[in-house]
Amino acid sequence: MNLPNKQDILSQHPRSEDRLLAILHDLQKANSDNALSREDLQLVAAHLNVPLSRVHDALTFYSMFSLRPRGRHVIRVCDSPHCHLGGSWSVLEELQRLLGVKVGETTEDGLFTLELTSCLGVCGVAPVMMVDEEMVGNLTTERLQEVLARYREGR
Ligand code: FES
Repeated sequence: MNLPNKQDILSQHPRSEDRLLAILHDLQKANSDNALSREDLQLVAAHLNVPLSRVHDALTFYSMFSLRPRGRHVIRVCDSPHCHLGGSWSVLEELQRLLGVKVGETTEDGLFTLELTSCLGVCGVAPVMMVDEEMVGNLTTERLQEVLARYREGR
C-alpha cells in the first residue's frame, strides 16, 4: 500500500494552531498501524511552530489518538453513565468474546483493536460504539455480529 507523504499531509493544512487536531487525525489515518509516532508529533509541532508539549497534550486528551500501534479498525465502546445504564458492559463482554481480546488489545489477525471511550455525544441511542469513524448505536448482540461481519468483509 502506498502511504501518503507526511509533508504532503502537513502542507494541506495552514500553519494555524486550530488545525492541530485535524493534522493529527490525518497523520494517524495515513499510518498503517493506526497510530501516531513520536516523529509525527515533532513534525506537527514544527509545522505549527508550537511546543511539542502542546501537541502531546492534545494527543493524550483525546481518546481517538494513540501512540500505541493498533489494528486496521479501532472499536471504541462508550464507557460513560448513560451507556452504562443502557447496557454497555454486556455489549463490551460480548465484543470481547466475539473478538477474543480484552480492552486495549488487538485481534490476532490485526483487524480490530478494542478500546473504551467517554461519551460520544449520542446518548439517545445508547449503548454506543464507534468503529473507526462510524457511530453505531442501539447495540445488541445481533447488531454487533452484523457490524463485525461487515468490517471483516471490508464493506
Ligand atoms: S454516554 Fe454513551 S454516548 Fe453519551
